[in-house]
Amino acid sequence: MRQFNMITADDFGNSGAAFLIDSIKNSGKDIPSVALPTGKTPQPIYKALRETGMPAFHFINLDQYWGISHDDPRSYIREIAENLLDPLNIPDELRLTFNAMAEDSDAECKRMDYAIQNLADSRIDIAVLGIGPNGHIGFNEPGTGFESRTHLVSLAEKTHAANASYCDPYGGVPEQAITLGLQTIFEARQVILLARMGKEDILDQALNGPVTENVPASLLQKHDNLHVLVDPHVANYFGLS
Ligand code: F6R
Repeated sequence: MRQFNMITADDFGNSGAAFLIDSIKNSGKDIPSVALPTGKTPQPIYKALRETGMPAFHFINLDQYWGISHDDPRSYIREIAENLLDPLNIPDELRLTFNAMAEDSDAECKRMDYAIQNLADSRIDIAVLGIGPNGHIGFNEPGTGFESRTHLVSLAEKTHAANASYCDPYGGVPEQAITLGLQTIFEARQVILLARMGKEDILDQALNGPVTENVPASLLQKHDNLHVLVDPHVANYFGLS
């Protein structure tokens, strides 16, 4: 039986923003923790949120290229700060971010896991995710254990290729990244998976194929509070519009 409900949106940005705002309001917390992705998919939603505003939340960094500074042009922390956190005036104390230049990567992973353990309920309230061309969520590449916590990854070839056009002018795609693990993501009270045109096939594999570490997002089939928000192209592929 399907455990998820799929929400189709003619206006992906405004509907996605409204859905996230409702999720925050219904979280039962004054300031819920919300992990947010970067990349192309959520941009219309962030644009809508900049316009409408958003209830207070504690931002949790999902992933970041390793070995670069916060303000590097390739930095996911810079991207989300510019696109969402700064315009919404989210204070520094409500931004849990990776230090991708830490000398000791193990210690940095532990610091993040410890910070998440110290959130209310010891878990993230809402995890918003995009999906990579190989089914990655965060930077959990195929083959990552479902029980993983924060870790350093070597980026898969497909991920490298998908991100090259953006990163190439700034020194190329870094070889490694730091990411929240699959177990940490899975433990979130609510998961909102976003998919835009071009992700139809991998989304289908993730939602309807076998649950396998070869398609990390397939783990989400087991989540009891998963919402999948798709644009009209993806909706059409699934026969939903
Ligand atoms: C980025 C992230 C990645 C992206 C995924 C899809 O923070 O977590 O998993 O969500 O690679 O990227 P786009 O949206 O650019 O297709």
